[in-house]
Amino acid sequence: MPVKPKVFVSRIIPDVGLNVIKSHCDAEIWSDPLPPPHALLRQKVAACEGLVALLTDKIDAALMDAAPRLKVVSNYAVGFNNIDIPAATERGICVGNTPGVLTDATADMAFCLLIAASRRVVEGHQYTLAGKWKTWEPLGHLGQDLAGKTLGIVGMGRIGYAMAKRCYAGWDMKILYHDVYRSEKAEKDLGARQVGFDTLLAESDFISVHTDLNEKTRHMFGGEQFKNMKRTAIFVNSARGPLVDQKALFEALKSKTIFAAGLDVTDPEPPVMDDPLLQLPNVVIAPHIASATVGTRNAMAEICANNLIAGLTGQKLPAWVNPDVEGIRRKS
Ligand code: DGY
Repeated sequence: MPVKPKVFVSRIIPDVGLNVIKSHCDAEIWSDPLPPPHALLRQKVAACEGLVALLTDKIDAALMDAAPRLKVVSNYAVGFNNIDIPAATERGICVGNTPGVLTDATADMAFCLLIAASRRVVEGHQYTLAGKWKTWEPLGHLGQDLAGKTLGIVGMGRIGYAMAKRCYAGWDMKILYHDVYRSEKAEKDLGARQVGFDTLLAESDFISVHTDLNEKTRHMFGGEQFKNMKRTAIFVNSARGPLVDQKALFEALKSKTIFAAGLDVTDPEPPVMDDPLLQLPNVVIAPHIASATVGTRNAMAEICANNLIAGLTGQKLPAWVNPDVEGIRRKS
């Protein structure tokens, strides 16, 4: 019987993927609810050919160097800013991710945050629970209207498009977008207009972030950018926390430079409990759950398992972040 390839799976993922991995591989599965510490992860992958990683695992050059047989890193996420991709490619290691299947769930969450922040839903819930609801208040709990407003999408990829489509089709919003690439599809289907970053900040009622995190985009939202927004603006981030200078966001919310924010991601994650941002009434924060639906997480697990097996067996990865590794990928 052929020897099964040794792999490390850094957290329990849904059975639909995990069972495939277990049947093809000699798999060690990390069953703690918290991620393995980095030094331990390095030890765990040292003799492995495959690794299933999460966005909370830092996969750097040192870890790859400690794993000379590693052929594939299959990330259980669409984002892959936790992995040093050039280092993986240089070493002949394939990297896979899970695009496509979490588009709708993530856009739904972005919209959920947009409406929750605009209509002060969480604040109202807390008010109710605290026994402060005494009567119907003509001037209480006033939020922002959505219909016919302008939505600015930063990063018009799959998720940005899906968010824009919801707002255009359901709420008649005008769509602006900022991206290095032109999206003819968004322009044609949604009447979207590509604009410079400053124009988007100044003209949008809602700003929803869907761009990658990299050295160019880190802290792309800072004090200046919040000052450029409308005082009624709602800022939504369901992409990555470090795209935003969180102190600057705190200042903007506290000083009412902008109206409110809805965040599914923070920097760091989780936020430190004494971060003053957590005390503000005009921010809604979810614990990075945009892809957290049963169907989506199952679909991610399937792609993730298929990427892993393909990487181990020398096949093309179904969702391949670094196909340019092909000529130099590690063989057994
Ligand atoms: C991703 O996939 O990158 C999300 O942040 C988590 O699903």
